[in-house]
Amino acid sequence: MRTSQPQTIYLKDYRVPAFLVDHVDLRFELFEDGARVYSLLSMRRNPDSDGSDTSLELDGDSLTTLESVSLDGSELAKDAYEDRTDRLVVHDVPDQFELGVVTWIEPQNNTRLEGLYKSSGMFCTQCEAEGFRCITYFPDRPDVMARFRTRIEADKASFPILLSNGNDVEKGELDGGRHFVTWEDPFPKPSYLFALVAGDLVEQRDSFETMSGREIDLRMYVEPRNVEKCAHAMDSLKRAMRWDEEVYGREYDLDIFMIVAVDDFNMGAMENKGLNIFNSSCVLASQETATDQAFQRIESIVAHEYFHNWSGNRVTCRDWFQLSLKEGFTVFRDSQFSADMGSPTVKRIEDATMLRTAQFAEDSGPMAHPVRPESYMEITNFYTLTIYEKGCEVVRMIHTLLGADMFRKGSDLYFERHDGQAVTTDDFVRAMEDASGRDLSQFRLWYEQAGTPELTVRDEFDQGAGIYRLTIEQVIPDTPGQTNKKPQHIPFAVGLLGAGGESLPLKLSAGETDAPTDRILELTEASHTFEFHDLAERPVPSLLRDFSAPVRVYYPWTREQLMFLMSHDPDGFNRWDAGQRLAVDVISELVGDTGNEAIDGGLTDAYRGLLSDVSLDQALVAKMLQLPSEAYLIELAEKPNVPAIHQARERVLKHLAAALRDDLLACYRRNTVEGRYEVTPESVARRSLRNTALAWLLHIDDEEGRSLAVSQFERADNMTDRMGALRALVNSGYEQARDEALGAFYERWKADPQVVEQWFAVQSGSSRTGGLPKIRELMEHPAFDWKNPNKIRSVIGVFAGQNLPAFHAEDGAGYRFLAEQVRRLDDSNPQIAARLVSPLTRWRKFAPVHGEQMKTALESIRDKSGLSRDVYEVVHKSLAGQ
Ligand code: TRP
Ligand code: ZN
Repeated sequence: MRTSQPQTIYLKDYRVPAFLVDHVDLRFELFEDGARVYSLLSMRRNPDSDGSDTSLELDGDSLTTLESVSLDGSELAKDAYEDRTDRLVVHDVPDQFELGVVTWIEPQNNTRLEGLYKSSGMFCTQCEAEGFRCITYFPDRPDVMARFRTRIEADKASFPILLSNGNDVEKGELDGGRHFVTWEDPFPKPSYLFALVAGDLVEQRDSFETMSGREIDLRMYVEPRNVEKCAHAMDSLKRAMRWDEEVYGREYDLDIFMIVAVDDFNMGAMENKGLNIFNSSCVLASQETATDQAFQRIESIVAHEYFHNWSGNRVTCRDWFQLSLKEGFTVFRDSQFSADMGSPTVKRIEDATMLRTAQFAEDSGPMAHPVRPESYMEITNFYTLTIYEKGCEVVRMIHTLLGADMFRKGSDLYFERHDGQAVTTDDFVRAMEDASGRDLSQFRLWYEQAGTPELTVRDEFDQGAGIYRLTIEQVIPDTPGQTNKKPQHIPFAVGLLGAGGESLPLKLSAGETDAPTDRILELTEASHTFEFHDLAERPVPSLLRDFSAPVRVYYPWTREQLMFLMSHDPDGFNRWDAGQRLAVDVISELVGDTGNEAIDGGLTDAYRGLLSDVSLDQALVAKMLQLPSEAYLIELAEKPNVPAIHQARERVLKHLAAALRDDLLACYRRNTVEGRYEVTPESVARRSLRNTALAWLLHIDDEEGRSLAVSQFERADNMTDRMGALRALVNSGYEQARDEALGAFYERWKADPQVVEQWFAVQSGSSRTGGLPKIRELMEHPAFDWKNPNKIRSVIGVFAGQNLPAFHAEDGAGYRFLAEQVRRLDDSNPQIAARLVSPLTRWRKFAPVHGEQMKTALESIRDKSGLSRDVYEVVHKSLAGQ
């Protein structure tokens, strides 16, 4: 716990480590009341350092007892070192030595879930970013890479499975019913990739033959009750391994690859070398217990962690400012993989939706930071949408600018040049430049400047000359600590459509032959004008196709143009986007309206067309039928009044549902087909369409809809349909049917934590059921657990992040509630507490009545005594400034 104001760490202060570690020899004695950790470090002075340090400094955090320190085999007297709890300083060390450290730690009391802790009776670790220092004293920074040997000793009956990184090289029995296993990892790695697991787990095995013909042993370890939930992750893993060979030429390097599922986990999953550890909710799935969305999420997370083996582990980060080096690139790789496994357009829509809804919000709020930040207090707070998702978009733009072949040459060069090293985002860009011959110096601003570029597009048509002119201006808004930004290098994909919907050739000069119908315009200046020649009539522009850059685009679209693009744009993303813009326009017009304003009939016609046209890609149709979310509408609004936005959106939804009732029923029936459950884009689209139709029908309390929902709920053979029906009932006015379904659902699934989490979320996220009294009731429920991050997220996180009209209730009770929970959690799990604060941080964006109450809630957190560094940083940065 904090006693003074936390320090800010700056990128400009980076210094190479004074000492390196060549080898780490660890021995863990695991007991019920604690663990003894013996560490033997083979160290030497770093030849690249200036050599001025005479003492050795190691990081430590929350280590219960330092039992002994030895240098080259002799125990040191107490005055030969200083034990400063967060730092061990050993005086007068030679140039090369072996340092022995013995610590006693208490995993059973570790509620922060950093370092070594216990989850459902098993021991497990989470060392990224700075968790290894909670296990033993160590130079806990990613540019110190060492070979690890790890011996684990524990009671054999309670902990038959003992795992760590690499290969198991020795095992045996010990006195008192104990046993041990020793693991050796031949690849030097930073401490954040260390992992240990000990528990009573069952093993599922499979194997994979690599492109060079090596046989890899694949193993999943789960609690016995979860054996039926492993197949999907295992299949996903094999697909990911094959894909990385085919698309990036990357082969797996150890003989064993292990995945472990744990219930208590702060994040989604962790790429520890050879031993990936997953949050149960991000790896375990069966048709009966997981939705289509969960299946897809699992496939992409399994791939993400696997891909880190090269983009993160073999080539790692020099320091934590470079986090996006591994995360941005790896998210890009997993998004390419998911696109290849399913529908690329749908994947692009999902990624852009997340970016525009949540990352843009982050980038215009008080925590805005560049993809490569310049400073931080607590690094855990920087595992953000900007580092991950915007970082992915930055890599995607390099891919767009270079083309797939050059990009592959660049990634080959990057992996070859930096294998075994800890490097920077700049090294990544340089490899791309060197392989392609392109100059990316201006492009590097994407890593340095925070804020979402705003592009304003104007056009004019010169009928006489047949020239269409597009003028594009870019402005990058100020963000905390950054003003007067330079223009960035932006790939802007465009097309032009003729009146009949045909794609027009984009001629940059009159008479140009074989001009393409798609072009990437490269914006590098504050303003550009592009001329397109030989046009007979004014075209309709299709701007920022496939969301070619993470920017906001302003152009005065007419509703006619949007409806035209919705049905004619050959770019699937822009078709969808035109529909979104149209719906945003219609909904925004109704915000604050008394209820008399008519709803544009064009929108109804457009949706009717979507519902009935079976010739269209149904996966795209399923996406097009989703109205823009409240969160997105709020993000777009100036000083949003959340209840008014909610009302306006509800009105449009109800209007559409009533006007399209018969079309919805027909769509529902058409997409109800018997057959085996599969997770293909076609069948996922079918279930999505069907459940959207059902949700809309129940929104207007349609009797036929209700009986369809009840019978679907009772008969569903998969969680997507069961949850679809339950969600529709929860959001309807049929209170009895809703309560019966919720009760039956819980009774049936109460033994399954992953399902109970969904049961919590469907209630706390609903504006119909999720009022504060309900949220408090859910928190009193026996299945709620303050020590389990998933339960906290599914009740409190979902309430504040998705149940927006309740969270933003006029009286401020939602804000006070969240602040109360943050204060409570701050002592036990600061990482999760700091993440929960996020909805309050944007207080300046909201209308004053709301903003002031949000600010007061933040102040009540600020004033808690002994605030963690994690929450301190978020709260103080949110309250600071203008
Ligand atoms: N490196 C992990 C990933 O993106 C992220 C992660 C897992 C993490 N657990 C964490 C980050 C705990 C911070 C703290 O795949
Ligand atoms: Zn990652």
